[in-house]
Amino acid sequence: MLNFTSVALGRSEVDFLAVPVCEDAEIHADKELAALVAEARGLEEFKAEAKQQLMLYNLLDGRVLRCLFLGLGPRKKINAETLRAFAGRAVKVAMTAKREAMTIAAPLAQALDLPPERLLQAVAEGACLGNHTFTRYKEKPKHAPLQSISMLVPATMAKQFAVLPGRVEAICRAVCQAREWVSTPGNDKLPEQLGRAFSTAASRAGLQVRTLDQTQLKRHKFGAMLAVAAGSAHPPCLVEISYTPAKAADAQTIVLVGKGVTFDTGGIDIKPATGMEAMKGDMAGAAAVVGAMLAVAKLKPKQRVIGITPIVENMPSGTATRPGDIVTSYAGKTVEIGNTDAEGRLILIDAMAYAIKKHKPDVLVDLATLTGACVVGLGEKIAGVFSRDDALRQAIAAAGEAVHERCWPMPLPDDYKELLKSDIADISNMSSSRYGGAITAALFLSEFTNETRWAHIDIAGPAHAKKASDYCGPGGTGFGVRLLCELLTRRQP
Ligand code: BES
Ligand code: MN
Ligand code: ZN
Repeated sequence: MLNFTSVALGRSEVDFLAVPVCEDAEIHADKELAALVAEARGLEEFKAEAKQQLMLYNLLDGRVLRCLFLGLGPRKKINAETLRAFAGRAVKVAMTAKREAMTIAAPLAQALDLPPERLLQAVAEGACLGNHTFTRYKEKPKHAPLQSISMLVPATMAKQFAVLPGRVEAICRAVCQAREWVSTPGNDKLPEQLGRAFSTAASRAGLQVRTLDQTQLKRHKFGAMLAVAAGSAHPPCLVEISYTPAKAADAQTIVLVGKGVTFDTGGIDIKPATGMEAMKGDMAGAAAVVGAMLAVAKLKPKQRVIGITPIVENMPSGTATRPGDIVTSYAGKTVEIGNTDAEGRLILIDAMAYAIKKHKPDVLVDLATLTGACVVGLGEKIAGVFSRDDALRQAIAAAGEAVHERCWPMPLPDDYKELLKSDIADISNMSSSRYGGAITAALFLSEFTNETRWAHIDIAGPAHAKKASDYCGPGGTGFGVRLLCELLTRRQP
């Protein structure tokens, strides 16, 4: 539970207090807090350099039992992300110390060049996201999450931003749910199992859910998606989650589509053994979309929002699709399977064509761990965003910047389309060039979006992290949930 508190320090007892300290400026106005900081600064070993920490005990006449001072570095370098990292680290220290509750002193907005709402949101997010560990497979988890986190803010702020803790908590819960889905091994999220997990979570959140099973997918001719599922012993499904706003009549419709490959072996074009286990995370796009829908149920944006997740397992077997096979996609275009490992684009085109036909969306956004090439180009922390709609692409990049889920603009050059030509089918799922793989994958998708305003976000890099960072453990990162929430609650792109 996350909340604001404005109690005067030293009045009542605080078990664990975390205080951010700036290297070259005072960022707390409260008298008691300032006194605590002065005490820390009095010690030679604490310079408040970035990431430096100091623990002191029994301060303010014993009313503050444990006080953790964390350095933020120089004022000029402090931004929202520095504060998320601070709060995440503070929570980790408290968890390691086996605390049940903690208080985090929020810095003064005027002292940093940040709007107060952004500042509070960043601290709250870092704390909430840092307070999560994936323990499903541990008999004896090392750390338990804190039961309660209070942010110490002036009473006027607590009043002005009273809805903030609830909103941030809703978003962060959704992020952590997405993380857990991504980190769950492939044997515990077979397509229908994952589909059920999605639909259960969405129904519980009060959203409308519809699931298409294999029979229905066959009846509606999801030919490209079924071609990917053909090698697996486990049938595919497609989950469709809807949120309807209160004033639905003239609301815009935004459809989110997420790639849901529960495990990507590559199929007959099988991947090398090294690192293949990470392909359990090939449904991170779907996890982000469903996570965003769970948050949307609480954030209640003005638009109608629909989340669609095609879910399959990509396996080699006697029933698997062969390289060279030609399949008819939902849209009616035929696709030559140049490579069975380029499966993400196959399930996405069917889901997107279905979304366009059924919902006629004003905006369509897909998220997918689509290409290794995108990771080569942008590294493991930045997603690529592709769109012919400048405003939409910029809105996504700006939303990503605000929540530090960075999306870098990538091109969709028309003349590269010839790389996807097939001699006998309408298009090939494989580029004839070994270069520019993230771009050709996006161009392939673009052939199925017609006139719809559409953006594609390749999250192959940031969906998953080998190592823990300040407010995220190792494994699924939940990348995309906060980005989508920010995009949906900002002014219309
Ligand atoms: N799921 C992979 C992409 C991927 C790679 C995600 C690394 C996360 C980390 C995708 O299905 C894939 O295999 N893409 C191929 C496409 C190629 C065969 C055209 C790739 O990127 O190599
Ligand atoms: Mn693949
Ligand atoms: Zn894949």
